[in-house]
Amino acid sequence: MNIQQNVSLKPFNTFGIDVAAKRYVSITSIEELKEVLETEKDIFVLSGGSNLLLTQAIDKLTVHINTKGIQTEISGVNEVLVTVQAGENWHDFVLWCIAQNYGGLENLSLIPGNVGTSPIQNIGAYGVEVKDTITQVLAIEIATGKEIVFDNEACDFGYRNSIFKQEAKGKYIIVAVTFKLTTKNHHLNSSYGAIQTALDAQGVTKPKLKEISDAVISIRNSKLPNPDDIGNSGSFFKNPVIAKSTFLSLQQQYSEMPFYKVSEQEIKIPAGWLIEQCGFKGKRIGNTGSHKNQALVLVNYGNATGEEIYALAKRIQKTIKERFTIDLEIEVNVL
Ligand code: EPU
Repeated sequence: MNIQQNVSLKPFNTFGIDVAAKRYVSITSIEELKEVLETEKDIFVLSGGSNLLLTQAIDKLTVHINTKGIQTEISGVNEVLVTVQAGENWHDFVLWCIAQNYGGLENLSLIPGNVGTSPIQNIGAYGVEVKDTITQVLAIEIATGKEIVFDNEACDFGYRNSIFKQEAKGKYIIVAVTFKLTTKNHHLNSSYGAIQTALDAQGVTKPKLKEISDAVISIRNSKLPNPDDIGNSGSFFKNPVIAKSTFLSLQQQYSEMPFYKVSEQEIKIPAGWLIEQCGFKGKRIGNTGSHKNQALVLVNYGNATGEEIYALAKRIQKTIKERFTIDLEIEVNVL
């Protein structure tokens, strides 16, 4: 085990925040991880760093999960089980699936981060969530070093939520995720308006996995900043779910407010719209701001500190609360 001192975490978080890990270890096998856990329990687990806002130096041992590997097992005539080590890059894995003609993850193309963190916030985009294909998550319990399997139900998935953000938070390290994917007769999901528009523009009437993936990539590229160019963590807030009664009274004042029905009693409002209405979209405040093409994405223009971005987030929350009486919940992990 090679513990390094004072390592900058700037290359390891997509916001590009330059804070130091006082002690840092890179993990490349489950055995190495178990060895670390024999002596270290108070740790900070770092994965792809794509859903993370670092506001201070890390005193705890930073354990960076860099395990690699993909295993497949045929499961029935039309399905394959694919087990992926946590440190594999998510988008590279999605492209690998498309190259094998394995269906199910194509709508989740170009999402930053690693496979191991995909279940934590149940990553989702363009009508698909990762919970739809996950069969099990293998984790190590930090207290005991034991391997624990969470099946899909045990993960208790919800919108940008799972047991790993709730009761299990801080107790486990995810080391591998198993997905059930289709090998033929794929269930393509092109229902999201922008995907259909992109396919129509290409003249594609019978899309294959790659064409759906390409459509998603072009939509994301047109709206979302590439973290390699402008630091960001994707959607900074969750889309708020509000009571229907609150929605109906707001709608009287804001008839053009977009919304999605969640249940008979609950309505989801796009946070990007709320933020845009309050004048933050495209506005730069010091080294940070809300992105010009998607207000829900907060960005680092180069030298922002985590505190600066967090201060903007608080300001946005306060403004939205005052104007719409809606609480915006931060989706990103703030440390
Ligand atoms: N909108 C605005 N202004 C904006 C942005 C959005 O008015 O600046 C309104 C528009 O009415 C638009 C609606 O919001 O039609 C929805 O926008 P979009 O399709 O971009 O989706 P979103 O709700 O803002 C969610 C996810 C994204 C995911 C997209 C597509 C959350 C928190 N975010 O964004 O996920 O890519 O849907 O499925 O649910 C992420 O989590 O990091 C992420 C990028």
